[in-house]
Amino acid sequence: MRIPLIAGNWKMYKTIAEAVDLVESLISDLGDISGREVLVCPPFTALHAVSSLLQETPIGLGAQDVFYEAQGAYTGAISPLMLRDLGCAYVLVGHSERRQIFGEDDALVNRKLRAALAHGLRPILCVGETKPQRDAGAAEQIVTGQIRAGLAEVGAADLSEVVIAYEPVWAIGTGDTATPEDAQSMHATIRRTLAKIYSQAAADGIRIQYGGSVKPDNVDELMAQPDIDGALVGGASLKAESFLRIVKFR
Ligand code: 13P
Repeated sequence: MRIPLIAGNWKMYKTIAEAVDLVESLISDLGDISGREVLVCPPFTALHAVSSLLQETPIGLGAQDVFYEAQGAYTGAISPLMLRDLGCAYVLVGHSERRQIFGEDDALVNRKLRAALAHGLRPILCVGETKPQRDAGAAEQIVTGQIRAGLAEVGAADLSEVVIAYEPVWAIGTGDTATPEDAQSMHATIRRTLAKIYSQAAADGIRIQYGGSVKPDNVDELMAQPDIDGALVGGASLKAESFLRIVKFR
């Protein structure tokens, strides 16, 4: 049984005061969230404040990025050890914005993912094709390549700690979500790839989130797909009302 994971990626939004406001609203209006896991990924600067508020609540804490060393002379970087210290349980690696704007390649993403695992953080490995890649018929090849490279040297025992997020780049922040059928098809491809690398049982146990313009009005049909095990939500996670409606998908 895969427990769906609904995660909010706040990206570079929210001051500390705004983050606290949002989390207080989420906590007070959360209600019954049995059968699903909920996660927020605030910016680094708000992690400490949010972490204190989330104690004793069912909402988990994640970070949006991590460096691969535990400590050292790496100006500006944040280590897995520091994220654990803040109470983070998860961390995003390889988000398309990191890949495209900050030039991260698969090898760097893989180092970050393995560092997260080594320090007891659950990595959410983000993969997805661009519009030109999809139009060229290369979407599956791109995504399966990112999966293989991102998981290089990750053993079967560690795989159960990993979450995959399929986020087609053309669907991020555009309002142009993948159809449930297209998303399902890619999720099935990802699971087949995992079965080839590891085993069918391992592939069946891993959660694959969909991300890219997930909203209150499309979450239900996306979550109804057999291989969609959660959502990684950007814009709609910045307001309590829309995020909670997504959390309460039916
Ligand atoms: P949007 O939900 O704003 O499209 O962002 C998706 C995303 O990138 C989540 O990581």
